[in-house]
Amino acid sequence: MLDNLKQRFKELFDKESQNSFFAPGRVNLIGEHIDYNGGLVMPCAVTFGTYLLTAPNTDGLFRFRSTNFEDQLDIPVQGQYEKTGKEWFNYPLGVIHNLAIQGHNLQGLDMLFFGNLPIGAGLSSSASIEVVTAFAFNQLFNAGLSKLDIVKLTKVVENVFIGVNSGIMDQFAVTFGEAGKALKLNCETLDYEAVDCNLGDHYLAIINTNKPRKLAESKYNERVSECAQALTALQKKLQIDNLCDVDSETFSTHKSLISDTTVLNRAQHVVEENERVKLAATALAENRLDDFGQLMYASHDSLKNLYEVSGIELDTIVEFCLRYPEVTGARMTGAGFGGCAIALVKKNALDDFSAKISEYYTEKIGYAPSVYSSDIGAGVRELK
Ligand code: GLA
Repeated sequence: MLDNLKQRFKELFDKESQNSFFAPGRVNLIGEHIDYNGGLVMPCAVTFGTYLLTAPNTDGLFRFRSTNFEDQLDIPVQGQYEKTGKEWFNYPLGVIHNLAIQGHNLQGLDMLFFGNLPIGAGLSSSASIEVVTAFAFNQLFNAGLSKLDIVKLTKVVENVFIGVNSGIMDQFAVTFGEAGKALKLNCETLDYEAVDCNLGDHYLAIINTNKPRKLAESKYNERVSECAQALTALQKKLQIDNLCDVDSETFSTHKSLISDTTVLNRAQHVVEENERVKLAATALAENRLDDFGQLMYASHDSLKNLYEVSGIELDTIVEFCLRYPEVTGARMTGAGFGGCAIALVKKNALDDFSAKISEYYTEKIGYAPSVYSSDIGAGVRELK
């Protein structure tokens, strides 16, 4: 694959590429819509992601090319940039903008991007392209950023340049991911622990609904603001900085402070989901995969009924999984509103699972899902 990309680079730029980088996508095992509420999440990096090949140029230009999209951009090296439309290159451009306004000395670069993650499917294709760009520029132009600086910078790109009020989980997982480990991350303190993710005789299957995700960004931002409303209401009595500072007992005692039923449901999901992550981490550490699977189902149920970010497509997948004996747990992963679900599927049943779920889903939804299986991969790196 890398050889093909190098060949493509040569065709496009009439010279050899000099450096190659890779950043993965991620799935979140449990702890959904928790990161922007300051709680615990458990993502891991997958083995698909975004490749970036580079070579310097002396034309004072950033040249963006992609093997996934026809749109391309040539733009002079300058002190700042603005988002232009919705094209893919706005993600790396946002990273460059943020590095430029921090005063880093950047120079002309030819870039070829290739992604093998389904784009916009909830596997963090955007964090992946942001992080691979930041990592490459940091190295090529000696910007002196730590990995955590890269995480924080790319989150700002997503929040300000792109305009989605997302939390820090995706950029963190894509940067710090470790092969075979899930990251138990505290999104308030950014302390994390890489925990062994021993799935025994199971594979992690990723089922893409293939649903076009219209309005996902505005609905996501709506959830963020509903959580902020719940926090403000609880702060009338409780000294808390985040919704996840509340445990379910305290929540039961004080929930009457929240008058709006929808906002109350959102908050209840957050408080209980945060507790599920703690239980899930212990279950995983003790190899109690059945318990882990039950927590995944409970998480999905809450995202469906209380947080209302699922939908018929994701629910159909989980409904199938619940009835399929070789699946130990399943849930939607990521923001929701379409995107992907994950399932723990017995290794020997993966082909049968894939065929049967595709048939069931297609019958009900009218088009086919895509089913992938992924190992848990490592975070951003240079490819030598
Ligand atoms: C998206 C966001 C993350 C997180 C998840 C939901 O992936 O980018 O920050 O909020 O949704 O858990």
